[in-house]
Amino acid sequence: MSEILLDTDKLEALSGKVVTDITGAIGVLLSYIGDQSGVYRALEAHGPCTASQLANTTGLNERYLQEFLSSNAGSGYITYDGQANEFSITPEQAAVFVKEGDPTCVQGFIQAVVSQYATHNTALEVFKTGRGRPWSEHHICCFCGTDRVFGPQYEENLINSWIPSLDGIQAKLEHGCKVVDVACGHGSSTILMAENFPNSTIHGFDSHEPSIEVAREKAKGAKLSNIEFFTNTAKEIPNNGYNFACIFDALHDMGDPVGAAKHINDILVEDGTLMLVEPMAADTLEENLDNPLSALFYGFSTLVCIPCSKAQEVGLGLGAQAGQARLTKVLNQAGFTQVQRTAETHTNMILEVCV
Ligand SMILES: C[S@@+](CC[C@H](N)C(=O)[O-])C[C@H]1O[C@@H](n2cnc3c(N)ncnc32)[C@H](O)[C@@H]1O
Repeated sequence: MSEILLDTDKLEALSGKVVTDITGAIGVLLSYIGDQSGVYRALEAHGPCTASQLANTTGLNERYLQEFLSSNAGSGYITYDGQANEFSITPEQAAVFVKEGDPTCVQGFIQAVVSQYATHNTALEVFKTGRGRPWSEHHICCFCGTDRVFGPQYEENLINSWIPSLDGIQAKLEHGCKVVDVACGHGSSTILMAENFPNSTIHGFDSHEPSIEVAREKAKGAKLSNIEFFTNTAKEIPNNGYNFACIFDALHDMGDPVGAAKHINDILVEDGTLMLVEPMAADTLEENLDNPLSALFYGFSTLVCIPCSKAQEVGLGLGAQAGQARLTKVLNQAGFTQVQRTAETHTNMILEVCV
């Protein structure tokens, strides 16, 4: 057998990258701990300060804090001044680790990743057996993390850009119409629409009862009277003659996206519109690999989206990187003939879908 000679430059480059990723994996867990224990918020409020001072203001253990802050400073997540022996957080670091609700804040992503590590035994078993894994089988941090990731993006884009990109929908919403948010999760998109279009009636549906309970609580807190949430699968939504349907980051999670889209077609009025928000993707793996975010999308797709789809009837397993051509095929099979991209962000494509 001929010996395989390794290219040491390539080997070093790859090892270096992976060690950086492993450092990042520990950084992510520590960052989750910093988020949930309030360390970053305290550092923003009280820094620059020593670990001891931060321990006094937070009530946390000084020795743990010293080690935590040292690792975070090593990762560049916070700043250390060796002369003063003080830690602080710059405005940019705060934007990334503290500013809840801002699209710059990554804590939702971090929480979603941590949720997958928390249930790694299930993830492995699902992968090895090939069985489906329903949304309900995930750690609660998966639901909260998802909402924390997507909510700020909807806040930033939905009312100002995505809805105005659709033909005639904003006017209908302002005048008053019936809206259905399919697979609404914690209801951030549903609530945004209810707040901004008080003349319209907004219904949110999701098959995951605990998510619907959270959505109801949030709507109660927002004192909205034009919104209602229901626990139903997409294919079981009652026909209320909706003028506008939306699906945010969820069609690819469904086992039978064709059946779901067909049903949405049935419950929309004749000139109704579906707005489909799906993760940004090209039409081939090769093109997707040019996008630095694709490994992240395919990762969540392996752990969450495909298993969720496989747990339902049909179990199509579209995946989070289906691409517009594949999505269009699904929508065409459901009887929608017009599909066009009307807006996009780095992470999402917005498709206007009509009969
Ligand atoms: C990635 S989350 C997106 C949630 C929400 N739309 C958002 O953007 O925050 C996917 C959601 O799809 C829901 N879901 C999956 N399959 C479904 C189905 N067949 N019918 C209704 N909801 C479904 C899950 O329960 C989950 O809440």
